[in-house]
Amino acid sequence: YDYDLLVVGSANADLVVGVERRPGAGETVLGGDLAVHPGGKGANQAVAAARLGARTALLARVGDDGHGKLLRDSLRSAGVDTAAVLTGGAPTGVALITVDPSGDNSIVVSPGANARLTEGDVRAEVLGAARVVSAQLEIPPATVAAVVRALPEGTRFVLNPSPPRPLPAEVLAACDPLVVNEHEARVLLGDGETGGTGDDPAGWARRLLALGPRSVVVTLGAKGALVCDASGVRAVPSVAVDAVDTTGAGDAFTAALAWRLGAGEELSVAAAYAARVGAAAVTRRGAQESYPTAAEVAALDA
Ligand code: RIB
Ligand code: NA
Repeated sequence: YDYDLLVVGSANADLVVGVERRPGAGETVLGGDLAVHPGGKGANQAVAAARLGARTALLARVGDDGHGKLLRDSLRSAGVDTAAVLTGGAPTGVALITVDPSGDNSIVVSPGANARLTEGDVRAEVLGAARVVSAQLEIPPATVAAVVRALPEGTRFVLNPSPPRPLPAEVLAACDPLVVNEHEARVLLGDGETGGTGDDPAGWARRLLALGPRSVVVTLGAKGALVCDASGVRAVPSVAVDAVDTTGAGDAFTAALAWRLGAGEELSVAAAYAARVGAAAVTRRGAQESYPTAAEVAALDA
């Protein structure tokens, strides 16, 4: 085993339908034709990094079914090392996604095989081959904790706590950085989705840093991102693009960030690059199929 980035996380088949608006409880709406895309926050990260040129591996679990094959094909064609993609135990995870005309999405995930990626699947030789390990929360929390415990000295750990849930202190302490969007920041700060967090992303970043991670990144979509560590909070710009589908843009951001950090880049420099990668990803439909190459990122307007 030898790669720059190891992603530990989920692989899902994304079942996507465009809607004019989302249904309320007890309501039925008609949408567009079904599209089936390879997705899942872990597989998305792995494909995004590999498309950019990172030597990338994925530790994940898929089912022995057609959706599992869809995922493996997408990973392989992006050049992801799939030696640690395990098979069986349950059907491949599925994400039911609606996308509205503004490009915003809502997602329900059935974890399936992702829930069967266990502590026993976290092997030292797989972790030890990477400079940086990146995870999310569509796999069991105990598996993420096992990754943190098995990290070799000097291996950087990046976590996007999505979907957000409370994190044990040992996991928080390992994050360098903890990468959150606005929704995840509010939930982790314990103020609920619309509660008392106010509209002060710099304040969120400082409060999240006080929870124990070594650094924090708050992504702000078209407004770029904030990075925060012991030296303070800095703003990072993005580029203006026409959003078509934001699905998986955050995964592309986190993957690009993790890869550049593993290459030794400073946090705000890596985050500025990651913001450009995320911007490119929202200009195309789907998650993995929308991810840019390094040349496409470079070609974006300032
Ligand atoms: O972050 C986007 C991803 O979330 C989708 O690909 C879907 O699979 C869900 O996991
Ligand atoms: Na996209």
